[in-house]
Amino acid sequence: MRFLRPVLALTILAAGLAGGMLLWSRTSTARTATDVAVQRGQQVYAMYCATCHGLAGKGDGLSGQSLPIKPQDLTDGRVLNALPDHFLFTVISQGAQAVGLSPLMPPFKPQLSDTQLHDVIAYVRTLAQPAFDPKAVLPIPVKREGPVQPIFFSHAIHSGSYKLDCQYCHAGARRSSAAGLPSVERCMGCHRVVAAQGNPEVQKLLGYWDRKESIPWVRVFRVPEYVKFTHKNHVQAGLPCQTCHGRIEAMEQVAAGLTGQSLVNDLKNLAGMTPVPNRLTMGWCVECHRAANAKDLASLAWIGSPVPTLTREKPKAPLDCVECHH
Ligand code: HEC
Ligand code: HEC
Ligand code: HEC
Ligand code: HEC
Ligand code: HEC
Ligand code: HEC
Repeated sequence: MRFLRPVLALTILAAGLAGGMLLWSRTSTARTATDVAVQRGQQVYAMYCATCHGLAGKGDGLSGQSLPIKPQDLTDGRVLNALPDHFLFTVISQGAQAVGLSPLMPPFKPQLSDTQLHDVIAYVRTLAQPAFDPKAVLPIPVKREGPVQPIFFSHAIHSGSYKLDCQYCHAGARRSSAAGLPSVERCMGCHRVVAAQGNPEVQKLLGYWDRKESIPWVRVFRVPEYVKFTHKNHVQAGLPCQTCHGRIEAMEQVAAGLTGQSLVNDLKNLAGMTPVPNRLTMGWCVECHRAANAKDLASLAWIGSPVPTLTREKPKAPLDCVECHH
């Protein structure tokens, strides 16, 4: 019996070990590829990012303390959740300057491989409060379109990520003909404090302010001189900006897409097909006016969802030439 005890103990130990192994191997196969990426990402994060963004991602790392622009609090899902992976990939691989933010956030290419970059993004996503939901990201195009502006002003950051209301800057939209562009003073209302140092794009803004100059923004949406267009009535009628301008909050640079008449559409019209009218053409205005008067905006192929609800019982959208033409 005395000899049996250690044997028994060993057997139990061995069985326990085997059972443990079994359990371990079972849980490890149950771990998904994402879990593995997140774990690798955490290591990358600890080595390259924690020094500025802090171990827990709060933006409170030691090296970040002396920077004029504080490292982003990566746990703030309200700011980061709207931004798609390719946007964060650009920020981390090329540096935040590549999206109009500060060069104080350095580029990590080529130190980090593409896999490491994807891993660290997967990890950063797990920090977000409220939790990250891939279905709720903004459709920010990978390739920027539209003219390059005198200052890299990003609607994706101001209205997409920070959710500033459109009419905070385009205050005329509800009450006048022109929506209007914000004055330098309006920008300064925030940027006297926000990122006042540490970003050359904001320094340009301060330059215009000091010289008392207005910023020569390049216009994007424009109808010819002989057309009358008023924002007030359209906005008050219940049409969201996006119906006519697209998802501006998802644009790093404002682009209008196809506007004006095109040969392709002319040919389709001749052939009796009904092409989707390009924005800002007469067909575009008139088609919506017909549908609006019939309270049937859903019939428009291009209207997008959700279909806007018009506020008026009987909308009066004119079809007379003189109403739209001087
Ligand atoms: C030298 C300090 C520093 C290091 C190291 C650093 N960052 Fe940053 N990071 C910053 C600063 C500063 C900002 C804020 C930039 C701004 O708001 O203009 C920032 C912003 C960000 C943002 C927010 C972008 C946005 O759209 O708001 C992300 C995401 C980010 N960093 C991820 C990382 C990751 C991942 C790493 C490691 C691979 C890293 N950072 C390493 C300083 C740093
Ligand atoms: C209501 C406040 C507000 C107004 C008004 C505003 N911004 Fe910003 N802006 C922000 C915030 C918030 C950020 C993001 C800061 C961050 O991530 O660190 C930002 C970021 C920026 C940046 C990048 C700075 C950085 O963080 O590195 C630039 C450039 C910029 N804004 C330009 C402008 C211009 C030009 C205008 C006027 C047309 C303007 N902003 C109006 C709040 C504002
Ligand atoms: C912080 C200020 C600010 C906010 C908020 C803002 N914008 Fe802008 N917007 C600008 C500035 C500055 C320009 C001119 C530079 C440019 O085109 O990016 C502009 C340009 C535009 C243009 C193009 C004007 C033209 O030349 O034809 C449209 C359309 C527009 N904004 C719509 C919107 C919509 C829709 C929203 C809300 C989702 C919005 N903006 C939020 C500042 C702002
Ligand atoms: C019914 C379609 C429609 C709606 C809705 C609409 N816009 Fe416009 N927007 C236009 C057209 C058309 C132009 C070109 C006008 C011109 O050339 O005079 C324009 C021009 C602009 C411009 C540049 C010129 C200006 O008016 O200052 C800005 C900025 C703008 N829109 C912002 C907005 C914002 C913000 C909203 C929502 C609050 C909005 N728009 C809603 C059709 C629309
Ligand atoms: C997405 C739908 C839509 C588009 C696109 C649209 N409109 Fe309208 N428009 C309306 C509606 C709805 C009304 C009626 C508003 C009311 O009942 O007060 C209206 C009213 C008007 C009016 C009469 C009220 C006023 O503002 O004086 C004019 C003029 C007008 N639109 C011109 C235009 C022009 C020009 C274009 C193209 C550049 C255009 N609209 C594009 C929906 C649209
Ligand atoms: C709802 C607004 C609206 C109404 C109603 C309207 N137009 Fe237009 N029209 C426009 C706009 C916007 C343009 C400029 C965009 C374009 O070239 O398609 C335009 C352009 C034109 C042009 C120049 C087109 C070219 O090929 O250069 C002519 C001519 C014209 N309209 C005549 C008319 C006549 C005639 C009527 C009445 C039967 C009429 N319009 C009614 C909005 C309207």
